[in-house]
Amino acid sequence: MTELFETILFVCARRGSSSSWPLRNEGSEIDPVFKSGRQFSGQIRYSLNSYKVVINLCWRPRRIQNHFLKQGIRGPKYNFLLGNLKEIADLQPSSSQHFSLSHDIVPRVFSFYHHWKNIYGATFLVWFGPTVRVSISDPTLIRDIFLVKSDNFEKIETPPSAKKLEGDGLSSLRGEKWAHHRKILTQTFYSENLKLMIPTMGKSMKDMLTKWSSKMSKDGKVEIEVSEWFLSLSEEVITHTVFGSSYEDGKAIFELQAQQLVYATNAFHQLFIPGFRFLPTKKNIISWKLDKDVRNSLMKLIEHRKKSLECDQSEEGPKDLLEVMIKASNSTYSNSAIKVDDIVEECKTMFLAGKYTTSNLLTWTTILLAMNPHWQQLARDEVFNVCGARDTPSKDNIAKLKTLGMILNESLRLYPPLAATIRRAKIDTTLGTLNLPQGTELLIPFIGIHHDAELWGDDVNEFNPGRFARGVAQAAKSPMAFMPFGLGARHCIGQNLAIIQAKLAIAMMLMSFSFELAPTYQHAPTILIFLCPQYGAPIIFKKL
Ligand code: HEM
Repeated sequence: MTELFETILFVCARRGSSSSWPLRNEGSEIDPVFKSGRQFSGQIRYSLNSYKVVINLCWRPRRIQNHFLKQGIRGPKYNFLLGNLKEIADLQPSSSQHFSLSHDIVPRVFSFYHHWKNIYGATFLVWFGPTVRVSISDPTLIRDIFLVKSDNFEKIETPPSAKKLEGDGLSSLRGEKWAHHRKILTQTFYSENLKLMIPTMGKSMKDMLTKWSSKMSKDGKVEIEVSEWFLSLSEEVITHTVFGSSYEDGKAIFELQAQQLVYATNAFHQLFIPGFRFLPTKKNIISWKLDKDVRNSLMKLIEHRKKSLECDQSEEGPKDLLEVMIKASNSTYSNSAIKVDDIVEECKTMFLAGKYTTSNLLTWTTILLAMNPHWQQLARDEVFNVCGARDTPSKDNIAKLKTLGMILNESLRLYPPLAATIRRAKIDTTLGTLNLPQGTELLIPFIGIHHDAELWGDDVNEFNPGRFARGVAQAAKSPMAFMPFGLGARHCIGQNLAIIQAKLAIAMMLMSFSFELAPTYQHAPTILIFLCPQYGAPIIFKKL
C-alpha cells in the first residue's frame, strides 16, 4: 500500500467514530446522551458505546450509500470496518511489476481511482475504513470546490503522527490562525523578494555542477543518480529561504530535523497502536530528544536573531521566513502574535514541503528531458539565446525562458509531486446536482485530472510541452484541468519559489551538459507521500 493510502488510512483510523458524517439529526439525538455518560453505570455506558459503534460502522455507511445512490452516485460496496482498504491494496500492482517507459502512470500509481472511475464514472464513492470519500474529477465541480464555494469546504485535520512528520504549520492550520499565518508568510514568497535570492540559489547549483564535473571519466561522461542531489539542492534553497543570514545555524537545525523525520517516518510506518507514540521505546526516546534539540536550537536562534534585528533595521536583502515570523511575534496585539512554538512548527512544515516537492519536480523534468533529446535541445538553445555568456541566469533571463516554462508545466502535468488532496464540506452543500451533507469528504485526484484524455486529448500520455504554448488556461479543454499547485486560497505558497528554483537549476544543467537515461534506469513512478521514481533516477551526463 502506498504512503498516500496509509495517510488516508491514518485519518480514518484516528478519527474513527468521531467523524462528523452525520446524519446530524440522528447525531443531535445521540450526542447529549453520550455527553452525560458519566451519570450512567459502566454497563449502560458500555451498551451505549457498543450501540454507537454499531451505528457508525454498520448503519451509517449504509445510509450514506443510499443517500448517494439516490443521486446516481455509486462506488464499491462498503465492507465492515475496513471499507475498501483491502480492495485498494489488492489493486496496487506489486512493486516488482515491470513497467515500460510509458507516461500512462495512473493505473500504476492510483490504481483504485483508475479501476473504479472506469466502472462508476468520474464521480464515485470510495470507503477508507468507515470514512467515505467522494472522488471528484469534473472540472466544473473542481472550480466550485476551490473557487466558487470554497467557504463551504475545509481541509481535514492532520492526524498527530502526520503532524509530527510535516509540522503543525500552514498546510494543516485552519480558520483565523491559518489566514493570519498565510498573510505573514506570503511576504517571503513574493516574486520580487524571491528574485533577490537568485544569486544564492545559483551558487548552490554551480557548486553541485562543479562536483559532477569533477567525477567525469576520461571520455567526458559521468553517471549521476540525480534525485539524491536534487534533494540536497532543495534543502539548501529552503534553508536559505527560511533562515537567510542565519543559514549556518539553520542548516544544523534542519539536519536535526532530517534525522527526526527518519524516526517520525518509522513511527508512521508502524501498525497503528493507540498511544504507541507515548511509550518510551528506544526510537521514541531518540525522536523526543531530537524534537527537543530542534526546539531548543530554534529558540536560541530566534533570540539571537531578535537581537540582531533590533540593531539592524535596514531593509536590504531578501526577507527570510524567520525574519517575517519574528517581526510578527513582536506584534502588540497578543492574540494575533505568532508564538515561538508556531515558528518552530512553520519551520518544520516548510522544510518538508519545500524540500521534497521541488526536488521531485527537478528529478522528473531531468528524466523527461533525458527521454526526449529534441525538447532537451530546444530548451538548451533557448537558454543560450537568452542568457548569452552568463553562467548563472539573471532574474530577467529566468522570466524569458518560455520553452523551459512549458517543459516544467508538462512535467508537473504528467508527474505532479502531490497526487491528490482532500476537502470536507463544512455545511450541507450542493455541488452541481450533488447534495453533500455536512462532513462529506471529497477526494480530488490531481493526477487523474492531469491524465484525463477527455480534457487533454488523445495524446494525454505523451510528453508534449507544446500544449502549453498558448498559456496554461488554453492547454486543455478546461482551465481547471491543470492544478499541480492546487487552486484557490489554499494553493501552494511556495509555487514561485519552486518555479524559479527549477528554471534556474535546469537552465544551468543544460548549459553544462547533454544527458540521457542510464541503462540501469527503471521507470517506476511511486507515491511515497510525494510522487517519486521508486528506483531513483540514474542519468548519464556528457560535458558540452
Ligand atoms: C513543485 C513544487 C511544489 C508542488 C507541486 C507543490 C504542491 C502543492 C499543492 C498541490 C498544495 C495545495 C494542497 C491542497 O490544496 O491541499 C500545496 C500547498 C502548500 N505548499 Fe506546496 N508545492 C510545491 C513546492 C512548495 C515549496 C517550495 C514550499 C515551501 C517553501 C511549499 C509549501 C507549501 C505550503 C506551506 C502549502 C500549504 C498552503 C496553505 O494551506 O495555505 N510548496 N503545495
